[in-house]
Amino acid sequence: MQKIIILDFGSQYTQIIARKVREIGVYAEIYPYNISRDVLLQLAPAGIILSGGPNSVYGDNAPHPFPEIFQLGIPILGICYGLQLIAILNDGVVDKSAAREYGRANLIIDKPNLLLDGISSSQVWMSHGDSLKSLPAGFEIIAHTDNSPIAAIQNANQNIFGVQFHPEVHHTEDGKTILENFARRICGIKTNWTTHSFIDNAINTIREQVGDDEVICALSGGVDSTVLAVLLLNAIGDKLHCIHIDTGLMRQNESTKLMELFDIHFKMSVELINGSDIFLERLDGVTDPEQKRKIIGKSFIDLFDIGAKRFNNAKWLAQGTLYPDVIESVSVKGPSVVIKSHHNVGGLPEIMGLKLVEPFRELFKDEVRAVGRELGVPDWFVNRHPFPGPGLAIRILGEITPERIDILQKADTIYIEEIKKAGLYDDIWQAFAVLLPIKSVGVMGDERTYESTCVLRAVTSVDGMTADWFPMPYDVLANISSRIINEIRGINRVVYDITSKPPGTIEWE
Ligand code: XMP
Repeated sequence: MQKIIILDFGSQYTQIIARKVREIGVYAEIYPYNISRDVLLQLAPAGIILSGGPNSVYGDNAPHPFPEIFQLGIPILGICYGLQLIAILNDGVVDKSAAREYGRANLIIDKPNLLLDGISSSQVWMSHGDSLKSLPAGFEIIAHTDNSPIAAIQNANQNIFGVQFHPEVHHTEDGKTILENFARRICGIKTNWTTHSFIDNAINTIREQVGDDEVICALSGGVDSTVLAVLLLNAIGDKLHCIHIDTGLMRQNESTKLMELFDIHFKMSVELINGSDIFLERLDGVTDPEQKRKIIGKSFIDLFDIGAKRFNNAKWLAQGTLYPDVIESVSVKGPSVVIKSHHNVGGLPEIMGLKLVEPFRELFKDEVRAVGRELGVPDWFVNRHPFPGPGLAIRILGEITPERIDILQKADTIYIEEIKKAGLYDDIWQAFAVLLPIKSVGVMGDERTYESTCVLRAVTSVDGMTADWFPMPYDVLANISSRIINEIRGINRVVYDITSKPPGTIEWE
């Protein structure tokens, strides 16, 4: 498969570059900026993208690639900091004192060229302090904006291009065309990275990797582990053993629905372990969020270990590690790699002496969803919002009791039903209800009530790292509020959370 290698200089947008390139059907991988020449050549990229970054190219610790990168004969596109690197490493000059430019700008094309072909003039997104003062040797200006006389450059002979703006971000109108021109026309990439090709490859790789061994998979009920199990089922059939632990802290009827999905839809039996009592007992009286997480993580491992004993021929554990986790572990300096991940089965492979099979190591979340759809996982399942491993335990603030779990499950069900009815579910990245440990006074009929408060939270996000609160229409909020208060005993007040992340987190605990 022909591919683009993206060198990460620490931009917050590096992952978005990879996603955008893959969206046009071209395979892209991210590597640290200080990759060696030999490793890069072994990867045989058809093109290289130098990402943006927070540094100044002249700074003391400014990250630079190995110097001969421009002499390899491989097409290069530098974005923002990447453009400035092209400049200073080829005798150009970057102006450190130029005014900062942040936000939209109008791109004006100065000269016909392959990179910007098909664009007449369009809105681009700028985010830089430094800018180019003089051109590097052998380069020419191909576009400018009002504030950046040098907004895009090329050395057509060497196939090296640079843009001061960010083609990967949504606000750059023709960003996709620019990346497509680079990948297809300049780098000449013909192969197509599709979900279908991923599945075929992954199935072969899994078969080669595990041979005749048996594999265990922990099914949490989330999208990643479900799609993982279905992929493995396609690859190794009945050598796959799935275990699902019902923690009693799932959404309403979630474990039942999951069992049905596998039983009926995929004709596959899943080992169900009912751990509700154990989880409840161990969480009794616990109110500290981190302690809740620790108890749940430990109990999960204990129960999983017991369940896995049934399959003592198994040598492998399947894990739904995604690409952002992998990039994090090959950490480069800079903000692009500060990805928070929650490993719910962390420690399991070591404890159980199992080897890991991780077929999603190169996928983004959206791509896992696409793989799921292609493998026949129903839409209602694939499009589900993320759900945290500790489940409702971190949405019930304060003590966890069977009564409070029941109240929150009901509120959450009504909330999700109503946003689906309003056609908003797919516009929201994550929506859920939270139960507060405080009571307040209300009045229902002629009676005074003194009951709990329920918080509704809904956010938009790309990866959960940052999030905006969702502007929920008032009429939808009104419906949800009256249904929750009328239908659920124990809640007499509903509030909507209007905190973004940062400064808030998505979950309340
Ligand atoms: P926060 O609350 O950190 O959440 O802004 C970001 C995303 O992570 C999920 N989350 C968790 N997922 N185990 C998980 O598997 C956890 O302990 C955990 N805590 C938060 C959260 O639902 C959101 O999608």
